[in-house]
Amino acid sequence: MFSDEQLDDLKLRSIEVLKLNRHKKFTKPSSKLYPHQWNWDSAFIAIGLSHIDEELAQQEILSLLSGQWGNGMIPHIVYSDSSANYLPDENFWDSKKIKNSPKNISTSGITQPPVLSFAALKVCENSKDKNNSKKFLKEIYPKLISYQRFLNEDRNLTGDDLICVLHPWESGLDNSPRWDKSLQNIQIKNYYRVNRVDDKFIPKHQRPTDKDYQLYFFIAEKLKEQDYKIKDYLSLPVVMQDVMFNALAILSLESLITISEFIEEDSSQLIYWKNKLSNAINTKLWDEKNKRFYDWDVISNRAIDNLTLANCIPLILNSLSQKQIDSIVSHLKKNGDFWKEDGFPLSAIPLSSPEFNPKNYWRGPVWINMNWLLIQGLEKHGFSELVTELSNETIRLVLESGFYEYFDPIIGEGCGSDNFSWTAALIIDLINKHQTK
Ligand code: SER
Repeated sequence: MFSDEQLDDLKLRSIEVLKLNRHKKFTKPSSKLYPHQWNWDSAFIAIGLSHIDEELAQQEILSLLSGQWGNGMIPHIVYSDSSANYLPDENFWDSKKIKNSPKNISTSGITQPPVLSFAALKVCENSKDKNNSKKFLKEIYPKLISYQRFLNEDRNLTGDDLICVLHPWESGLDNSPRWDKSLQNIQIKNYYRVNRVDDKFIPKHQRPTDKDYQLYFFIAEKLKEQDYKIKDYLSLPVVMQDVMFNALAILSLESLITISEFIEEDSSQLIYWKNKLSNAINTKLWDEKNKRFYDWDVISNRAIDNLTLANCIPLILNSLSQKQIDSIVSHLKKNGDFWKEDGFPLSAIPLSSPEFNPKNYWRGPVWINMNWLLIQGLEKHGFSELVTELSNETIRLVLESGFYEYFDPIIGEGCGSDNFSWTAALIIDLINKHQTK
């Protein structure tokens, strides 16, 4: 399907994108639109960097961890440059005033999907110097455990062991239709205008709406009012048991258990959290009748029944029944919900969904990190043909359209920011796998 020259050239161009977005000790997701360090972006970026330069991959992770709070929370943004044009800026969160937050660095007050421990494991697996990576893992292990404790304990707000997400930004998939119903009931008091900057860089129709932005700022204000400590979760505008976030937290526990064996640490607490969380996701968030995972809205105490690609992410877990695996895979195949015969896989929501919009952020486009996560899941469960097909289609899309943030699944056109770091980083990983087959 591809010549060696094509793949070598694409890999070189991916490396150039990561160089372009490099800022001192980390990599920006993109120079203009996202000019600071982002949590799950850096995890994906570290995986790509580990194929090129192990030290840079480790630096990426260490830089993100420099923003960690005393309660273990790893923020979704670590601010790097106060002159950068991004909203909300560092003053909005007022993080330095919060007890136990880093005092030499500004961060946001919320987190993002926990991919970091999985990335740390991948960086180690790709390492040529296992002694060096063991030393690195030993150094960061207490921090990764402290983050996991924050997730499994502090964010187990309802006591049923599922982790709660408190903001659409925390879910990583800001304007996914999964949250529409939950957000539409929120009454915004003290109406204020948000002077957006994102839509100065990217066409407005490809980004969340102004109303979305008002909500995002309003919800963040509510969290700030409580100093980001949750005393009464039912008073918050949104509390979601997001199935993708919870699945990634289990993946993170699986990764930490592997790491603990490698660095000879006791894993009993991790196994305890993993069993509890796996049990909760397989009972409360698994719908036996319709054979699929869904999210739970804690405020209205009801299941969110939209099927989106995010609901397929549990495929990445070890402990699934054959029935669960087969059901998820049936959605992912060509001519399933997310892949039109002559289009580009996988759309973020079903192509037939009434909310489907091929160019709007998390309401339709293809995202390389979602494809990549699902490729890991398909590989884990032995679907090698589908792995090859989806990997090839993902590489083809970037080869033909460029290093965009997301892509129209019908015509393949690049949308959002160009020169997007996780697109480049994960393409490096896919090319490496393709070339070592
Ligand atoms: N995804 C958000 C943005 O668009 C922030 O995390 O800026």
